[in-house]
Amino acid sequence: MKGVAVIGCGLIGRTHANVMKGLREAGLVDLRLITACDVDEQHALCLHAEAGFEHWDVSLERALDRPEVDVVYVCTPTRQHAAVVDAAVARGHALFCEKPLAHTASQARAIADAARGVPAQVGLVLRYSAVFAEMRALLSGVSPMENAGRPVGALFRDDQRFPVGGIYHSRWRADAEVSGGGTIIEHSIHDIDLLRWLLGEIRSVYARTAFFSNCPEVEDLSSVVFEFESGAQATLLSIWHEMAARTSERLLEIFCERGWVRAHRDFSGPLEVQAGDSEMVTISEDDVLDRAVDHFGFGRHSRPFLSNCYFTESLAFFRSLEAGKPPWPGLDEAVRAHQVVDAIYQSAQTGQAVALST
Ligand SMILES: NC(=O)c1ccc[n+]([C@@H]2O[C@H](COP(=O)([O-])OP(=O)(O)OC[C@H]3O[C@@H](n4cnc5c(N)ncnc54)[C@H](O)[C@@H]3O)[C@@H](O)[C@H]2O)c1
Repeated sequence: MKGVAVIGCGLIGRTHANVMKGLREAGLVDLRLITACDVDEQHALCLHAEAGFEHWDVSLERALDRPEVDVVYVCTPTRQHAAVVDAAVARGHALFCEKPLAHTASQARAIADAARGVPAQVGLVLRYSAVFAEMRALLSGVSPMENAGRPVGALFRDDQRFPVGGIYHSRWRADAEVSGGGTIIEHSIHDIDLLRWLLGEIRSVYARTAFFSNCPEVEDLSSVVFEFESGAQATLLSIWHEMAARTSERLLEIFCERGWVRAHRDFSGPLEVQAGDSEMVTISEDDVLDRAVDHFGFGRHSRPFLSNCYFTESLAFFRSLEAGKPPWPGLDEAVRAHQVVDAIYQSAQTGQAVALST
């Protein structure tokens, strides 16, 4: 049985803790929630009570030295990830580290290298989205896209309220010293990772960024053109807006030579598909979730959880630990996404396309 410490009891720490509680109660994972740790005592206390941790801590060392702890969820603001990872690795604990790993690719590389001796997974959660797993299967030639040909172009719009209000209770995302930047590094690093997963390695990027909210170095608008090794291209528009009532949305459509697929919800939801000379068809949310049972391979009893990719990613993490297999996606995948993020910022600064080394 694994014993978990959650470090950082804010939005995503709470999400993961409640997911782990749910997985344990459903009998899907054998774990103990050992300690909720946060520099803010109230945050630690609240999560301790809410998710049923055995202890709570304000000291990182005290949390990590608890003898029952062998798994650490790193859920602090980005600037603090490296220090928490180092402390956890020094004790040989398995790691789940939230994205972005760090502010730059070289810092991310240092974290990935430091963690090489322990099982480690990064929170690039869209790899566990039922709808994108089905989209990936369709792009590989699953019916009705069996004759759709190669993917050639993608249009991606990702919009979210500027994340310092609503469900976001903290303000660190408006401070580049803590976040590392704005919508590209903090949010659309997920989109970059997803595009790599769906369309393959990225060869070059051309980007423009803008700063409507006047937070220095925290861009709230980014337009990016990606060119892939395959020759396919994608455009991404990533926006942080000021509409409190609007829910975040990812709209992704991909054209193949003789096919087209579109999703506008990022966890589950239906997919629209058109291939060859056929009419457009809709794969319902129910069918997407049924197919996700096969894509993820956790058995029929996991089906009720598969509409929430945070459940699926933690289930996968613990199943990897139980099986002694490397968790996926590992930190090297995150480093590659960071290299693309760095290239996007470089392109936005120089006004030139930036090639990525292979
Ligand atoms: N994968 C996702 O979908 C997703 C979603 C949200 C956030 N995130 C990432 O998770 C991280 C945390 O984001 P959040 O929204 O939960 O932030 P948050 O502000 O809601 O919570 C962060 C918590 O960490 C605590 N903290 C700060 N420094 C600490 C330290 N040194 N030790 C222990 N606790 C400390 C804060 O007091 C706060 O309670 C960020 O890197 C963010 O990018 C990922």
